[in-house]
Amino acid sequence: NNPTGAVYSKDTLKQIAELARKHELIVCADEIYDRILYDDAEHIPFASIAEDILCLTFSGLSKSYRLAGFRSGWMIVTGKKLQALDFLEGLDILSSMRLCANVPAQYAIQTALGGYQSINDLVLPTGRLGAQRDLAYEKLTAIPGVSCVKPKGAIYLFPKLDEKMYPIEDDERLMLELLLEQKLLLVQGSAFNLPSRQHLRLVFLPPVDVLENAIDRLAEFLSSKRK
Ligand SMILES: Cc1ncc(COP(=O)(O)O)c(C=O)c1O
Repeated sequence: NNPTGAVYSKDTLKQIAELARKHELIVCADEIYDRILYDDAEHIPFASIAEDILCLTFSGLSKSYRLAGFRSGWMIVTGKKLQALDFLEGLDILSSMRLCANVPAQYAIQTALGGYQSINDLVLPTGRLGAQRDLAYEKLTAIPGVSCVKPKGAIYLFPKLDEKMYPIEDDERLMLELLLEQKLLLVQGSAFNLPSRQHLRLVFLPPVDVLENAIDRLAEFLSSKRK
């Protein structure tokens, strides 16, 4: 997942590469949101800045190409492959014997990767995804005690609830209450291994009118919890 919608800068990627070099690590770069970018955000593939590091880059049809039902993804191996031949052989065996890729769906990959990229229109401020991100961000941050970093990529917002206004002990319980009271399903921040209990994750894929109504219901729910 990318719950905060962060897009790493070249500098951050270089620091990760430094760590990988120092500790001789393999880097797994899940870059499935590589084309879902807002404003001036740029996706820099990790493999392109660290050609000496063994890197597994993952992607698939379900996000940038919006073909989730095709269940089709891929992995690109770059870097120091010679030192990892056994590991790579194991991956080959695993993919042939256990993953059993869906062959017809693989024909869609070439078509999806090339040609006209409709995602580029969707992420513009006038596009469906861009408009949904902007509306969800504006409405969430208008709720008292709710702050949020505006996502630069992906399809999620990760708002923070002010600790003094909303002292939350069990964020999973809070999400269950929200579901039961407002029929609204969000994910608690602790589900992403965050020690803090003050975050929620919202998917901004629904159309603006649905999002508008949902965030109004979230605001109503939070007003009943406010100290
Ligand atoms: C970062 C990331 N990678 C991979 C996936 C998996 O996508 P799928 O199994 O739908 O192809 C997801 C889905 O949410 C994701 O957030």
